[in-house]
Amino acid sequence: MTADIIADLVIHGGTIVSPDAEYKASIAIKDGSILAIGEQGAMPQAKETLDATGLHILPGAIDVHVHFRDPGYAQKEDFASGTAAAAFGGVTTVFDMPNTLPAISDAKSLAEKHAIARAKAHIDYGLYAVLGEDSLPNIHALIEGGVIGFKCYMGNTFGRIPSPTTGAMLELFEIVAPTGKRISLHAETNSIMERREARLRQMGRTDPLAHLAARPAVVATEAVARAAILAEWTGARIHILHISSAAELRPLAEAKARGVDITGETCPQYLVLSADDYEERRGVIRVNPPVREAENQNPIWQALVDGTIDMIATDHAPHSIEEKTREDIWTVDCGFPGVETQMPLMLTEVARRKASISDYVRWSAENPAKCWGLFPKKGALMVGSDADIAIVDTNRTWTVDDNLTQSTAKISPWHGMEATALPIHTIVRGRFAMKDRQLQENARGWGRSVHAIQAMPTPDVRHVDQTMAAVTSQTATNKGSVAA
Ligand code: NCD
Ligand code: ZN
Repeated sequence: MTADIIADLVIHGGTIVSPDAEYKASIAIKDGSILAIGEQGAMPQAKETLDATGLHILPGAIDVHVHFRDPGYAQKEDFASGTAAAAFGGVTTVFDMPNTLPAISDAKSLAEKHAIARAKAHIDYGLYAVLGEDSLPNIHALIEGGVIGFKCYMGNTFGRIPSPTTGAMLELFEIVAPTGKRISLHAETNSIMERREARLRQMGRTDPLAHLAARPAVVATEAVARAAILAEWTGARIHILHISSAAELRPLAEAKARGVDITGETCPQYLVLSADDYEERRGVIRVNPPVREAENQNPIWQALVDGTIDMIATDHAPHSIEEKTREDIWTVDCGFPGVETQMPLMLTEVARRKASISDYVRWSAENPAKCWGLFPKKGALMVGSDADIAIVDTNRTWTVDDNLTQSTAKISPWHGMEATALPIHTIVRGRFAMKDRQLQENARGWGRSVHAIQAMPTPDVRHVDQTMAAVTSQTATNKGSVAA
């Protein structure tokens, strides 16, 4: 280290957590990147120092599943409040879902959302585009406009984006496969749950448990298996969002064993809430896929531990108090916030289940970065990585209070829950987004899209001679008529 290098910030005294180890070291940051990690005496001079004694230093969490509602439903959340909530949760990058208004399914809507996000975001982000019949002609324009990936709604949910038929899905997978972009799936089969919901409504069921009755785990399991088959056939990369049941783990594990590029996430709600909570929490815990029977929790946790499930995301889905407390369960909006409480609640769960903070870092940062080609710029505390850092007190007992959150949504199932960890500072590319539990106002507008970082390996495309495009091309048609 030459004496004349002056770092912007040096953090002393903390315990750095990597996916393999925890160790005491200082960390120096310059121009938004990590410049050095080592003993305090080996650090360069710095313009600013931070004492992190007693705290853990984690790579900022990457939450690959949030709904920040902007544009279109800013009364529920916008990019400023959503990214402020993320900063308070130790999250430094989010991937925002496309079921906004308008939905993100063409270059124009994407460009508009990019402008909104760039102006308001406190932390970094990627933007998803819809993968459906409407966006089919726009896939390449969307990629050029800068997307982190595509979201395919196999089941209807908030925003009423129609789910593509299996035929359309195959064609969409064929188009996306050669681009290497990952397709994230809301894997719930529409026809099964619509049929059951209609019958339950006819019977007059309006109670919270009717929501679960309409969507048993087979709804998700069938969708995971079907998506995996289409991915295997085309070579498209896929990601299973919000794994909620033990039953989904078999098709997921089997597809991985067959070499399908398939990854999976689960969310805190499937680990800490259960069907036993409907009576008390009613519509507040209504979410798609539903919170299920308690016996699903341990297998889902085990799947995280053994790597079948790759990561933790939140499906942060804010709605108003009125929208969450309606009497008739079918009229309650689905989803609830989570980006702000994921890290505290999951570190609490890690401590309770005797996993390690290193495991948590693998699930919250390293694996999300790897699955979308952001690693090691994101998701790692290494020399040269972006200085995206969560500095956490893992020894702080506190109680979640919806009224004190950054999110506009002041209602969640987390209200009143006790956590044993709390992010104290959050740094995004070298700049504090949150410091001492205070939002740093100059961080607004600092967030940037991460789509250009992507370094995905070359995709392994299959059956190119049998795609819709191949069999309907002029040459294929001519060949057919000659043979006939
Ligand atoms: C999400 C929302 O509100 O946008 N709701 C939910 O219940 N999960 C949509 C989604 O992720 O499917
Ligand atoms: Zn979803």
